[in-house]
Amino acid sequence: MALILGLESSCDETAAALVTTDRRVLAHKLARQEAAHRPYGGVVPEIAARAHVEALGPLIEGAFAEAGVTLADVDAVAATAGPGLIGGVMVGLVAGKALALAGGKPLIAVNHLEGHGLSPRLTDPDLEFPYLLLLVSGGHCQLLLVEGVGRYRRLATTIDDAAGEAFDKTAKMLGLGFPGGPAVEEAAARGDPGAVPLPRPLLGSAEPHFSFAGLKSDVARKVGRYDAEDIAASFQQAVVDCLVDRTRRALAKVEATALVVAGGVAANKAVRGALERLAAEAGMRFVAPPLWLCTDNAAMIGWAGAERFLAGFSDPLDTPARARWPL
Ligand code: KG4
Ligand code: ZN
Repeated sequence: MALILGLESSCDETAAALVTTDRRVLAHKLARQEAAHRPYGGVVPEIAARAHVEALGPLIEGAFAEAGVTLADVDAVAATAGPGLIGGVMVGLVAGKALALAGGKPLIAVNHLEGHGLSPRLTDPDLEFPYLLLLVSGGHCQLLLVEGVGRYRRLATTIDDAAGEAFDKTAKMLGLGFPGGPAVEEAAARGDPGAVPLPRPLLGSAEPHFSFAGLKSDVARKVGRYDAEDIAASFQQAVVDCLVDRTRRALAKVEATALVVAGGVAANKAVRGALERLAAEAGMRFVAPPLWLCTDNAAMIGWAGAERFLAGFSDPLDTPARARWPL
């Protein structure tokens, strides 16, 4: 058994966690910056980077205290090295490098998307490779065949916006506040998903790619003409229909042991429910991480670090932070 310290700071969550290679989360600490960004209706990179600097040290100390261990007990330090807001990524990565250097521990530079993508294996020991992963977050919307640690075959991506981005913009247009996804889900629960006619971009097309820009502009045209809760419910239904149709298309093309969903939008109950039904229809296992593991956190980075550690990977201390880093 090995112990990994995981650090995350690529967007607006600062987090530190201690995770073991035998799937125990000894501590996970997280600080959200929502209040700091709320007046601007979105994440402001400079504010985010400064907030990470203030939050990270105490979170790391808190994680060590909660787990009752010290840096000396850690076997490797895993930090998100991208993709994300570069100022924030640098804060966590530089902290990780400093701890690795001071403690004489290997550094593991984790791709944030790999963190999301492997996270379902932290809570489900039976999830085997290869699995079809729908990765739906604020910055990404992809279908990947996860063949092993570090082995990802991208089957589809979005040609414009990510699904989470569409949730966030819809929330902004409806005046539901920030962050948008949970606010839209809450409003949608009181609305009628059939009330507002909205497009389903690329539905039925042969390649399993995604597109949400047309849906978003149509929501903009409907605002004020329909009830906000009906728009929220109809929008959510349109996103679900697109995700299911595109995922069904990809499922037909691959051999996979399970259908897996991860990323912030995987916290949405309508999305989870529809994908679960799709998997049942295909006679396949469905795996979704618990809600706390869907949105950004450091346990998933620690776990990706654990998987990489077991696979024999480590990274040099001059590994750069990367704003863009496709899997
Ligand atoms: O994975 P994540 O925390 O950060 C990125 O890596 O992007 O995902 C954040 C995204 C945001 O766009 C947020 O609105 C969306 O996930 N999200 C949701 C829900 N919770 C978070 N979208 C729909 N329904 C939710 N319950
Ligand atoms: Zn994320």
